[in-house]
Amino acid sequence: MLTVHLFVCNCCFCRTALLYLGQVAVVNENLSAPPSSTYFSVKCSPNVQYRITPPPAKSGPIPTPFNGNTVLLLTMDTASEVENDSKLSVMYYGKKKEVLGKAVVHLTAFEISLDVDADRDGQVERNNPNKGSWMWGPNGHGAILLVNCDSEHTCRKSLDSEHAEVTRVSDLKDMSPMVLRTSGPAKLPEGYKLTMHISQGDAECVRVFRSTAEKNLFYKSFVKDYPLVVGGEDLSKEVPCLWGNAEMNFYVEGLRFPDKDFEGLISINLSMLEPSSQGFPETPIFTDRVVFRVAPWIMTPNTLDPVEVFVCSTTDNDPFLKRMRRLVKNSGCKLKICPEDMNRGDRWMQDEIEFGYIDSPHQRFPVVLDSPRDGDLQDFPYDVLLGQDFGYVTRTAYGKEVSSLDSFGNLEVSPPVTVNGKNYPLGRIIIGVAFPTATKGRNMTKVVQDFLWAQKVQEPIALFSDWLLVGHVDEFMTFVPAPDKKGFRLLLASPDASYKLFRGLQNGGHGQAKMFDGLGAEEITVDEILSDEKLKAENNYVQSCIDWNRDVLKRELGLDDDDIIDLPILFHVMENRAVAYYPDMVNMIVLGKNLGIPKPFGPKVDGRCALEAEMTSLMEGLGLSCTYIDDFASYHKLLGEVHCGSNVRREPFSFKWWNLEM
Ligand SMILES: *[C@@H]1O[C@H](CO)[C@@H](O)[C@H](O)[C@H]1NC(C)=O
Ligand SMILES: *[C@@H]1O[C@H](CO)[C@@H](O)[C@H](O)[C@H]1NC(C)=O
Ligand SMILES: *[C@@H]1O[C@H](CO)[C@@H](O)[C@H](O)[C@H]1NC(C)=O
Ligand SMILES: *[C@@H]1O[C@H](CO)[C@@H](O)[C@H](O)[C@H]1NC(C)=O
Repeated sequence: MLTVHLFVCNCCFCRTALLYLGQVAVVNENLSAPPSSTYFSVKCSPNVQYRITPPPAKSGPIPTPFNGNTVLLLTMDTASEVENDSKLSVMYYGKKKEVLGKAVVHLTAFEISLDVDADRDGQVERNNPNKGSWMWGPNGHGAILLVNCDSEHTCRKSLDSEHAEVTRVSDLKDMSPMVLRTSGPAKLPEGYKLTMHISQGDAECVRVFRSTAEKNLFYKSFVKDYPLVVGGEDLSKEVPCLWGNAEMNFYVEGLRFPDKDFEGLISINLSMLEPSSQGFPETPIFTDRVVFRVAPWIMTPNTLDPVEVFVCSTTDNDPFLKRMRRLVKNSGCKLKICPEDMNRGDRWMQDEIEFGYIDSPHQRFPVVLDSPRDGDLQDFPYDVLLGQDFGYVTRTAYGKEVSSLDSFGNLEVSPPVTVNGKNYPLGRIIIGVAFPTATKGRNMTKVVQDFLWAQKVQEPIALFSDWLLVGHVDEFMTFVPAPDKKGFRLLLASPDASYKLFRGLQNGGHGQAKMFDGLGAEEITVDEILSDEKLKAENNYVQSCIDWNRDVLKRELGLDDDDIIDLPILFHVMENRAVAYYPDMVNMIVLGKNLGIPKPFGPKVDGRCALEAEMTSLMEGLGLSCTYIDDFASYHKLLGEVHCGSNVRREPFSFKWWNLEM
């Protein structure tokens, strides 16, 4: 904006004011006109534009007669080179058009613009007309802020956002650049100053640092060259003005993720204050405003390429680790093993954490969401994962009961879908809760649910998972990539499919084939399973629970029956809730085209496990390769499987969240 230093002097009247380029200021001619003035005329420098209101009649007399409330509106389109280099003058005439007086306004125009990357191309453009608002979509606008939730400290680990100072100069790249651009004369008239200010609410969500470092000396600068301007306790601070044609760099850091009480939008104002007579506060005469939205935390579905696989090492899982190592190597990603002194025997890597990321046009990094579950693995995400360009966020259920449904085996995300014409290019989050009509039951804790819903870009779906003893959605569903249709299939556990397969075996003369062959006391024949009425009744109940979820998933993800594959899996009931009867094949790890599936130990036909044969044939059609991993003793018997015991950090989406149409 151009500011104009306006000075009116005729006879007894003197007054200063500031105008802004592109804005209009008002001069009420009554004020400066000598008492008997009847007509007036206006002259000005070429870079000054004026408008008379109400506009004089086109064929009206010259000079123009006063019309009750005649007002002159001024704008200027270029900054002044020196103070008072433009002017506007008004001549006043009496009834007989005799000259009564002249008012001269000396004008000095400054351009002041607080700039951000409102067009989201990674560059801070000059005075984007949309910088003061935020709009979703490919034709949208508005700058983006990251929560500075990683840790640049190499020795003393803590979140960068916890410090009211720049942690290290390298931390500046996690912040959004903001530039104050000025042009105009080298000196501002006496008494004018600039202040930056934010609201009390936003002060908890944002900090702004200013660079005093010399231009182009970024890598030679020190943290002391980046003092805090606003944020925390500081809602407003004077910004030293570098007049003339200058730029001052600011760095903006986000402190909070969107949540129930925080939509994610933040505004930063820069005002020019005009000196006023003694005793009165300075008045803002011009405010420029920029708006940021804090980037949401985004989850990554199974259809994205794996980067790193995480598992725990325990005293009893060597064979499992060996098979996982081979699978991970074949899939071309890294295996990270959390050692026993860190996991303290807690092998449920899926349940303690969920990997996601945050993204902006200037920076992107992975962020781990730490579950309030807080098992013996609880220190792992903070102590091991948090680091430079690896963020951390958690939600604490203060005083609230945390249940098994708070484990993140109960937090999944679908691949991208379109539902009744609405696109979800980042998929939809899936959680498990109590049956909606249940008066009591376990639920995912409210603080985590609120956080997930507030991220907005992967609108969650709540499934019914409380029917399971452990209660996690990953016990009955997963997604695998597919070359056709919607690019994926939903896999669902299906007792019906399992009974069908077992009956087929019986009819084919394999009724005496044994499940759990070689596992000693566990062994049981196909005939015995099929004649167990209690088991049949339990599985009818389980099938009805899964069918209920199937309908929700079809509706909320816009799926047809041929987007879904039913896997032969049986459950049985313990303590009134269901657990997998044999290793739960749907609880698999998906690494590109490679699936790591719990080895089911099904009945053998001609030396081959009938369950594996069925599973392999279902997956082969999709170009997927199945590796069966024996997790029987070290996971299945403890009510979990391969997926529960592992976690995968994946590549982010190429789709940018700000391009979502909301
Ligand atoms: C300007 O002068 C006219 C006529 O004297 C008066 O009616 C009007 O209220 C004045 N306007 C202002 C803003 O003082
Ligand atoms: C600009 O004009 C104002 C008002 O006439 C005057 O007070 C000021 O000294 C002038 N500045 C310069 C640099 O001429
Ligand atoms: C920032 O400016 C806008 C518009 O000019 C105003 O509505 C808002 O109250 C200002 N906020 C602060 C904290 O000054
Ligand atoms: C559990 O969470 C869901 C989803 O937010 C909610 O609709 C439901 O009312 C909650 N149920 C209970 C029993 O708290």
